[in-house]
Amino acid sequence: MVDAVFISPKIRYYVGDGAGNVTVRYIGAENVGCERAVTSDTICTLRKSDCKSVYVENVGSFEITPLCRQGEHAGKVAVVTGSAQGFGLGIAEYLASKGCAVVIADMNESGAAAAADNISAKYGADTLAVKVNVADDESVQGMVEKAVLAFGGIDIFVNNAGIVRAGSLDEMTYDSFTLVGNVNYTAYFLCAKYVSKIMKLQREANPEIMSDIIEINSKSGLEGSNKNFAYAGSKFGGIGLTQSFALELAPYGIKVNAICPGNFLDGPLWSDPEKGLFVQYLRAGKIPGAETVEDVRRHYESKVPLGRGCRTEDVCTAISYIINQKYETGQALPVTGGQVMLN
Ligand SMILES: NC(=O)c1ccc[n+]([C@@H]2O[C@H](COP(=O)([O-])OP(=O)(O)OC[C@H]3O[C@@H](n4cnc5c(N)ncnc54)[C@H](O)[C@@H]3O)[C@@H](O)[C@H]2O)c1
Repeated sequence: MVDAVFISPKIRYYVGDGAGNVTVRYIGAENVGCERAVTSDTICTLRKSDCKSVYVENVGSFEITPLCRQGEHAGKVAVVTGSAQGFGLGIAEYLASKGCAVVIADMNESGAAAAADNISAKYGADTLAVKVNVADDESVQGMVEKAVLAFGGIDIFVNNAGIVRAGSLDEMTYDSFTLVGNVNYTAYFLCAKYVSKIMKLQREANPEIMSDIIEINSKSGLEGSNKNFAYAGSKFGGIGLTQSFALELAPYGIKVNAICPGNFLDGPLWSDPEKGLFVQYLRAGKIPGAETVEDVRRHYESKVPLGRGCRTEDVCTAISYIINQKYETGQALPVTGGQVMLN
């Protein structure tokens, strides 16, 4: 990653009073008429100064913009993976509505761009669409680099991108099993590796601040899932990573927690009229006696004590709790309507 990535978070925290009141954008390698010039060793002299631009010797120029946004998380920078649709899109929208600058990071480039435009228009939020394959090391580094060069740091990282490839032991292929593991499990490691570097730098600049890594896990990370072991195994593994990252990163004020939603029955994964799970399960005769998509839906709703599928707002309530609380890390928070209860 270019040097500017490691300098931006420090400038943001030295110039502002903690996260929240400035955005730091990297303009370029040259000194383009900046108000202040410093070396990377003397960046801390910028503390609470009101300069609008700064040149860091041998690194380049940075523009510092005061924020006028309001909201519970005003001025925080959030990156949400897999946010072109589904839970991720709802989470990105929620964080923008609470004042965050949001990076919409997804493999689906046009979907991410559309989401970024819509969210920006709706909430007046700073947004950035980034194309990423979360299972690819270089691509994840690129995502982190773009987020930091655009907004100056990362305070909230939501590891949401995930895929399902269901199937029995007889049906499952090595390739499908490995793909699920790469996207749901290995990618979480890659993202935590590069995102935590930035969060540590912010903490160095301001020992008071705390940041959040949040994994969108699943109820299938808490109990086995019949003929869906590739997914459940990757999600169980995700909780092992969450607990271990939490232990390693606690000294840096980085909380690491997982959210385990129940079935998002209104989301595209289930409800897509052509390839959604309702249609697939109906065609496969998975639910005995089901004759319509509605029958399949009712079958899944009946498994939930609170009688309905999980919604984006349920997950966002959990996100809000995780960010606001300052005394919990390494936890897996069920959001399942009572379908899974912790012992
Ligand atoms: N849908 C559910 O019922 C449900 C329930 C519990 C947990 N979850 C979890 O919630 C998360 C989101 O699920 P969803 O149903 O909203 O998913 P979705 O399929 O609607 O959206 C997933 C998004 O991730 C993107 N994506 C997929 N692979 C990617 C990759 N390699 N790199 C970057 N982006 C990639 C897709 O383009 C898509 O935009 C997942 O981690 C999933 O396991 C979903």
